[in-house]
Amino acid sequence: MPTMIEQSKRADPRVREANVTIPVYGQLPFVPERASGCDIFTTDGRRILDLYGGHAVAALGYGHPHLVQAIQEQSEKLLFQSNAVALDVRALAAEKLTHVAPSGMDRVFFVNSGAEANENALRMACMATGRNKVLAITHSFHGRTAAAAAVTWNSDGWYGFPTKPFTVDFIPRDDIPAAETMIDTDIAAVIFEPVQGVAGAYDLSTDFLETLREATRKHGVVLIADEVQSGIGRCGQFFAVQAHGINPDIITSAKALGGGIPCGAVLCSHQIAARFGPGDLGSTFGGGPIAAAAITATIEAIENENLLVNVREREAQIREQCVIGPVNRVQGLGLLLGLVCDRPALDVRNVLLEHDILTGTSSDPNVLRVLAPLVLEARHIDRLADALQAMAPSTD
Ligand SMILES: Cc1ncc(COP(=O)(O)O)c(C=O)c1O
Repeated sequence: MPTMIEQSKRADPRVREANVTIPVYGQLPFVPERASGCDIFTTDGRRILDLYGGHAVAALGYGHPHLVQAIQEQSEKLLFQSNAVALDVRALAAEKLTHVAPSGMDRVFFVNSGAEANENALRMACMATGRNKVLAITHSFHGRTAAAAAVTWNSDGWYGFPTKPFTVDFIPRDDIPAAETMIDTDIAAVIFEPVQGVAGAYDLSTDFLETLREATRKHGVVLIADEVQSGIGRCGQFFAVQAHGINPDIITSAKALGGGIPCGAVLCSHQIAARFGPGDLGSTFGGGPIAAAAITATIEAIENENLLVNVREREAQIREQCVIGPVNRVQGLGLLLGLVCDRPALDVRNVLLEHDILTGTSSDPNVLRVLAPLVLEARHIDRLADALQAMAPSTD
C-alpha cells in the first residue's frame, strides 16, 4: 500500500498546491516538467513556446549553458556568504552591472527582488532629501511591499497596511504640464517605469521623461527609474532609459537580472551613495554568491551573443508581422511589447495557448503582453503571426 505522501506525490501539483498554499495566484492550465531555449515541456506531453518568460524573468530562455555552468560552478565553490565578507564573485557582478548601466550609475546595492529594490530606492530618496512626499505615474506597478505598493497605481484594493509610509500623488502619464506643476521642492522622489509593464507595455514618451528629468533636477528631487521589467536588455538597450537618453539618479533592477535566480539591485551615482554608511541599508541574501554569479553570466551572455541587436530585430519583426488577426497595433519597446487587440486579451491568450503559444495579459483588458526571452528566434515570431492570423475575426 502506498503511503499518503507517496499517493499525494502522484496527484496533480495544481491540486496539491491548492491544498497547502495560500490561493493568491490564478494559475495557467498546464504543469511544466522541464524547459529548454524558448520551449516549456509539460507533464502531459505538450511543447509550449514561451513568449511570456515567467513574468519577464527568463532573459536567456531556459537551460542556457553559460548561466547553468556559472551557477553550478559557484554552488560547488561557495554557495553562500553574507555581506559581512567581501567576495570576488560579488565584486565582479557589481563591476559588470555598473559597466553596462547608463553613465553615472557607478554604485550598486544588491537585494533579492523588484519590490525590495524599489523599497530601498524610495528609502534612499527620503533619507537623502529629508522630504516625505513621492510622485509616481498613473497606471504604474512597482511591487507589493509597503513603499513599493504605495507608489503603485490603484493598489488600494490590496494595499493592506493601515497607513502609507509617505504621502503619494500620481502624475497622469505623458502629461507634461502636470509634471511641471506637480514636481516641486516638497517632493523626495519621482518614480517611473520607462515602459509600464503590468499596464500593458505602455511606453512613456521621451518628451515626458525629459520633463521629469529637468523638473526633478531643478527642484533637488531624486528621479528613480524602475527598470525591474524593462531592464537587462529587454528593451534593446541594457536599460530602457538609455533608449531615451535619460540619466536618472537611481535605477532599480530585478527579474531578468539573474536570468532566473532571484536577485535585485539598486544602482545610483557615487554622490548619492556617499550619503549612506554602515547600518543604513541591508539585506542578508542580497549579493549572495549564486545570485552574483548568475548576474555576471547573464550580462556576459547578452554581450557575447549580441542579444541587444537580436531584441531590436525581433521587435521590428513583430511590428511588421503581428499586426494581424485580432491585433490592431503594437506598443512598447524591444521585447516588452503590448499587442493591442480588438477583443479581450484574455480570449486571445487562451486561443494562442490552444496553439501551444504562451503570452501574457496585462492590467489593460485589451492588451496582450509579449515578454519573450531575448534569445527569441525569427521562426518563433512566424509561428505567432500564423496563429494570430488563423483567429476568427471579431464578432463586434
Ligand atoms: C516594474 C516592476 N517593478 C517592480 C516589480 C516587483 O518585482 P518583484 O515581484 O520581484 O518584487 C514588478 C513586478 O512585476 C514590476 O513589473
